[in-house]
Amino acid sequence: MIAQSKIEEIIQAAPIEQVIGDIVRLKRAGANMQGLCPFHQEKTPSFSVSISKGIFKCFGCGKAGNVVNFLMEYEGLGYIEALKQLAERFSVEWPQFEQVNQEQESQLKNEKESLQILNNWAGTFFEKNIWELEEGKLIGLSYFEERGFREDIIKKFKLGYAPDQWTAFYDEALSNQYNEQVLISSGLVKKSDQGKVYDAYRGRVIFPILGATGKLIAFAGRQLKKDEKSPKYVNSPETILYHKSNELYGLFYAKNAIRKDDFVYLVEGYTDVISLHQSGVENVVASSGTSLTEQQIKLIKRHTENVVVLYDGDAAGIKASLRGIDMLLEQGLNVRVVLFPDGEDPDSYAQKMGSEAFSAYLKNEVKDFILFKIHLLLKESAGDPLKKAQVTKDIVNSISKIPDSIKRMAFVKEAASLLQMNEQLLITELNKTRKDFLTSKEKEWVKEEPLPVIVEQIQGLVQEKGSLAQEQHLIKLLIQNAHIELVDTQSFVKVFFDMVANAQIGFENETMLLLVEEIHQFYLSNTPITVELFTMHANPIISGFAANVLTERYQISNAWEDRFDIIPDSEDKVVKRDIESALLYLQLHNNRKLMTETLESIKKAIEMNNEEEIRLNMEIYQALKQRESQLSSDKGLVVFE
Ligand code: UTP
Ligand code: MN
Repeated sequence: MIAQSKIEEIIQAAPIEQVIGDIVRLKRAGANMQGLCPFHQEKTPSFSVSISKGIFKCFGCGKAGNVVNFLMEYEGLGYIEALKQLAERFSVEWPQFEQVNQEQESQLKNEKESLQILNNWAGTFFEKNIWELEEGKLIGLSYFEERGFREDIIKKFKLGYAPDQWTAFYDEALSNQYNEQVLISSGLVKKSDQGKVYDAYRGRVIFPILGATGKLIAFAGRQLKKDEKSPKYVNSPETILYHKSNELYGLFYAKNAIRKDDFVYLVEGYTDVISLHQSGVENVVASSGTSLTEQQIKLIKRHTENVVVLYDGDAAGIKASLRGIDMLLEQGLNVRVVLFPDGEDPDSYAQKMGSEAFSAYLKNEVKDFILFKIHLLLKESAGDPLKKAQVTKDIVNSISKIPDSIKRMAFVKEAASLLQMNEQLLITELNKTRKDFLTSKEKEWVKEEPLPVIVEQIQGLVQEKGSLAQEQHLIKLLIQNAHIELVDTQSFVKVFFDMVANAQIGFENETMLLLVEEIHQFYLSNTPITVELFTMHANPIISGFAANVLTERYQISNAWEDRFDIIPDSEDKVVKRDIESALLYLQLHNNRKLMTETLESIKKAIEMNNEEEIRLNMEIYQALKQRESQLSSDKGLVVFE
C-alpha cells in the first residue's frame, strides 16, 4: 500500500497540463485548457483540462479524472505503475518498503521494465564510447565531426558508437547481469545458426530512438563506410517497447517547437532531423524512411494540423512519396512542401547553406502541396493530351481526399485554371471520385437510388429518432438563419459555436454532429451560410437533410408553442424566439445530463469512501443545479422534465 500522503505528494508534483500536454495539444480556453480527446475520435475539441482543479474531462466520451487516472487510461498502466512513473518523472522519492506483488504485476510489465532498463544501460554504453573510448573517439566521434555535427548536438541526441568487435557489447552486458534472453529480444545482440551470440551493431555509429515521452525505446546503427554487403542502417526489431509504425523519430525533441509554431517539418532520415536542429529548426520529425502510417499521422495530428514535407531533390523519390501525402490530406491535415535542389537532402543542404540561408530557403520555397503536384505533373505531361487526362484524374483524386469542402472548392478553382480546364468538369469528376470513399453506410444511401427516395429514407431516420427532434430543429434554424442577429448584435452562428465551445450545448445524433462540423468549417472560413451550401453538398446525408429543411422553409416548433405559449409576432421576432427556445432547451438538456453523470460519480465516490471525490462532485452538482434554475428563471420558463 502507498500512503495517501505520498499519493497527494506525487499528484501535486505532476502538473496535469504537462503530462496531458505530452499527448494532447492543449489550447487555453478561459480558465481551462482544451484539446482533442485522446480517448475517442473527434474533430472539435471537447476534452477539457482544469489546471487549478488538476482534473480532465471529456464532454464527448465522458472520461474524466486526475493526472494518475489519465496515465492509467492512456498508457494502460495500473494505479501503482502510473504513480511510480509520475514519481520518477517529477522527482518524488518512491517509498523504500514498496511491496511488490509478483503475481499481480503482469508478465508483460516485467518484460517491459527489463527491456527499458537494458535500453537505458545500452544507451549509456554506446554514448560513453564516443567520448571516452579511444576507438570510439577516433572512429565514431570523428565520423560525426566530419559530417559537420556540433558537439552540443551530438550530446543532445545522445549519439554513440558500438566497438568493431564481435562481442564487446555482449560481454559487457553479461558482466552487468543482463540475461541473454532479454538481450536477444532487444535486438542488440543476435544468435547465429551455430548458436553463437554476437553484437548486432558492431562498428556502427548509434542513433538512439526515443518515444514521444522521451524513453529510449530503440536503436539505429549506421554503417561508417559504404558497404553494399550490409544494410546502411541496422534498426531495432519490433519489441514490446518499440512499434516502428507508431513512432516518429525526433518527436520528443520537437514537441515544444511544434506547439509554438503550429506546424511540423516532415523529413525522411535521422540525420535530417539532427541537422535541422543544428540549424535552429526544431519542429521536425522523421518517418524513418518508410511511408507514413495512419498511426504516425494521428500522432502528428495530436500536436498540429499543419505539415510541411521536405523532399529530397530526386524525381523518383518525389513520385514515390506523392501517394503517402494523399494520406495526410485524407486525415484533414494541411500539407505544404519544400523541394530541395537535385541531389540534396535536408541534411546535406542545411550543412551546405548554414543556418540562416537554410531557414530562409525553407520559408521562401514552401508551396502548397496540390499546386506543387499540379506543376510537377504538368511539367511531365507537357504536350501529351493522353497524359494530361491522367494528370487531371490524379489531381482530382488528391483534391477529393480533402475533407473540408471549402478548401476542396478553392483547389478545384486553382486546378481548373492551371490545367486550363472547365471548372464544372472538374467538379463533376470530383463528385464521382468522392462517391468512392463514402462510408459503407453512406453508400447505402446513395446506391443507385434517385434523390427523392434518399430524402424519404432520411425523413424516416429523422422520425425514428424522435427524441432528438430538438437537435434537428436547432440545426435547421441554424442553416436557415445563421446570420440573424441575436443578443448584442452577435450572429446566431457565433452564439451557437460559443456555446458548443463552452460545452453548454452538445449533440448526440451522428448526423447532427456531422452537420455541426460542416457548418463549423464554413463559419471558420467566413463563408456565408446558406441553405444551398448544404443542399448541394457531396455527402448525401447532408444534402438530404438540407433538402428536407428546404421543403419546410420555416415552421415554428409546435412543442414550443404549446409549452411556452409564444404569441406570434413579426416573423423575425418569432424566429428569434424560436432560436432562443431551442438553444435553451438544449442547454437545459445538456445540464441535466451532466447532473445525472455527477450524481453517478457521487454514488461511486460514496461506495469508495473517497471524501475528496464526494466533495468535488457535490460542488459540481450544486453549480449545475444553480445553472439550471438560472437558465429557466432568466427566461421565465419552467424546468422541463
Ligand atoms: P537515407 O538513406 O536517406 O539515410 O534513409 P539518412 O538518414 O539520410 O542517412 P545519411 O544522411 O545518408 O547518413 C532515410 C532513412 O531511412 C531509414 C532510416 O530511418 C534513414 O534515416 N533507413 C535507410 C533504414 O532504416 N535502413 C536503411 O538501410 C536505410
Ligand atoms: Mn541523408
